[in-house]
Order: sequence, then structure tokens, then C-alpha cells
Amino acid sequence: MRVTLTAIKADIGSIGGHIRPSASLLKEVERSLQPHLGKDFIDFRLSYTGDDIAILMTHTHGTDSSLIHQIAWDAFKAAAEVAKKEGLYGAGQDLLKDAFSGNIRGLGPGIAEMEFEERKSEPFLLFAADKTDPGAFNLPLYLAFCDPMYCSGLLLSPNMFKGFKFEIMDVAYTEGDKVIALTAPEELYDIAALLRDPERYVIKAVYSRTTGEIAAVASTTRLHNIAGKYVGKDDPILLVRVQGNFPATGEILEPYALVPYVGGFMRGSHQGPLMPVKRNSSVSFFDGPPIVSCTAYCVKDGKLSEEADAFDHPFWDHVREIASKKAIELRRQGFYGNAMLPYGELEYGGIVERLKALEGKFEVRH
Ligand code: F6R
Ligand code: MG
Ligand code: MG
Repeated sequence: MRVTLTAIKADIGSIGGHIRPSASLLKEVERSLQPHLGKDFIDFRLSYTGDDIAILMTHTHGTDSSLIHQIAWDAFKAAAEVAKKEGLYGAGQDLLKDAFSGNIRGLGPGIAEMEFEERKSEPFLLFAADKTDPGAFNLPLYLAFCDPMYCSGLLLSPNMFKGFKFEIMDVAYTEGDKVIALTAPEELYDIAALLRDPERYVIKAVYSRTTGEIAAVASTTRLHNIAGKYVGKDDPILLVRVQGNFPATGEILEPYALVPYVGGFMRGSHQGPLMPVKRNSSVSFFDGPPIVSCTAYCVKDGKLSEEADAFDHPFWDHVREIASKKAIELRRQGFYGNAMLPYGELEYGGIVERLKALEGKFEVRH
């Protein structure tokens, strides 16, 4: 059967700062979705990563369905009202527009959707990250889909010998979706040249070159493009199909052991290591570090299996230790140099005013 996976994620308010949503927020999202179950969509799951709530839905309406988007939008709106009543911090933060007009893209929440013909067994992964931006998935996806040092399937499995096609988006462009398609391995260096700059170029989707099937899709929302200014990080979400013509689950997971430094962390304005965490984890140290969760599912006739928490394993405890060490090490240099993001990526305009005021006090000596 043809099924669509829709993952939508938003920060609509959280407890004690930017830590995690309250149980009543999650309950309200669930209450709002429940009447549509078995009617408008086949199945759904809820989870949170830091202060963001993720809704995963399965249905047959295809991508960009206004019905499905509206259901998610209404659920977030209803829960944002609860957040306001509870006095939670940043209530309704990611819901940047008042009215829904057919598509949730451009309204604030991050969205990743894919439609495909279900395989006999259809395993897939849902990644959700907090205190970072969509470029955080660039390196893990590149390594898993392009590099035989990480993905042994590129050497061992004839299903993958042809490699993969990448769609990469220039997220600085605001007039539409500015996208380039590049193929690995032939255009590997071009792909790397773009992905090198994760704040500007972001992987939007990956396709098998053997079958043309979609392999992965990530959210590419940049809130500051919508709001005209920085209003929060664009904490991203990612769907990846695994096994068969795609990398194995473990090949997709392996690059996360690198804990690469990504943009985000405190006030969305720093660099921090991307720590793989268990589902429903909060943030802490310096409002971070940036975190990523991964839930594994199978889908059959649109019904979701129970979930397996891919980073809930002793191996990842060790990686989390490494991430903590890397976080502490970089935090030792505070505001200095690479510890903070470049000017254009700071979530706050305050420093611009400060520097403007100082500019007038400079004197030029000859
Ligand atoms: C991401 C996140 C941060 C905040 C940032 C601004 O989940 O929560 O990127 O958007 O720390 O916070 P406020 O608005 O509290 O200054
Ligand atoms: Mg937040
Ligand atoms: Mg967040």
C-alpha cells in the first residue's frame, strides 16, 4: 500500500525555561489528535526532545495534505493555549502565524514528510533534535549515505552500488525553495563543499539511485526567514528509511558517535556537540548541549509498530560521556571565537546595538 509519513515538530512552551514540555501539553496534543485516529489518519505517535513536541502520523493523503497539516496545526494551537494557561515559558513560540492557510510550511513548525509504496517490511527512523538547526543532520547523513568508511553497504550490498542522490537547499534564500540535486559518488566533492556550511546549505532529501525511491527527508524550516528576525532555533526533524536498498539502521546511527559540533546550544547562539539521547529527554547544561533522539519503527498497512529507542543502549552512554567532555571543553572558552556562532547566526540582535554604540566611540589615529 502507498503510505505517507508526516512528522511535525514545534516548541509550544516548556517548563522552567527551555527544558521540556509539560505532561498536560502532551496530553492536550493527544486529546486533539485522538478524534482523527482511524478516520483522517491511520496511526500516530507523540514524543518530545528537549522543549519540542513531535507528532508522527501515518496516512494516505500524500505529502502537503492540508487536512493533515491542519490537524497538526490545530493540535499545537490547542496545546499552546494550555501552555499559556500554565504560564509555561515561550508558550506558542514556534507558531509564528495566527491563521492556517492550507499548509503548515512557513508557519513555524518543522516538518518532514515522505510518501512511498510500503515494502514487505518497512523499517524507518525518526530523528528529532533540540537546541540546534537543520544543518545538524548534514554530516551524519553525508557519512551514512556517501562514505563506505561508515556505510559498509555501499561496498557490500549491490542494492546500493549506484549510490544516492541528494537534494540540498540553500536556506538563506527566501523567495522559494532553492534546491540543487547532486549525486554521490560522482559529485561527492560538490556535496561536501555545500554541506561544509550547515547554516546555509541543508540536506532536504536523499533518494536511492538504484530504484529512485525516497530514502530520507529532513525539515528545512528557518524561523528567521518566516519572522524576519531570529525567534528561536529551528530544532529539526528527520525521517530515514532503512535496510534493503537503504543503509542499515546501524549505518545510519554510526555517525552520531562522532558528536560533531553544531550551531545552537545556549540562546541558539553557540556551538556545541550533538549528543545522542534517549526519547523524551530534556536539556540542561548551558541550555543544552544540543541533543538528538532517534526512534525506530516498522509500518505495516499504515499501522505503526511499537517503538524502539535507538540511542537507549550502553554504547551511547559512552558517547554521551564524550559529548559531555566536548561540551565542557568548548565552554571553557565562553564567548570567545568558535564557541559562539558567527554574527549572522546569533539569535539575538542585542550585540548589534552594542557594537553600533561602540562604533561611535572609535577614533581613527593616523
Ligand atoms: C531552542 C531554544 C533556544 C531559544 C533561545 C532563546 O529550543 O529554546 O534556541 O530559542 O535560547 O530563548 P529566549 O527567548 O528565552 O531568550
Ligand atoms: Mg525552545
Ligand atoms: Mg527547541
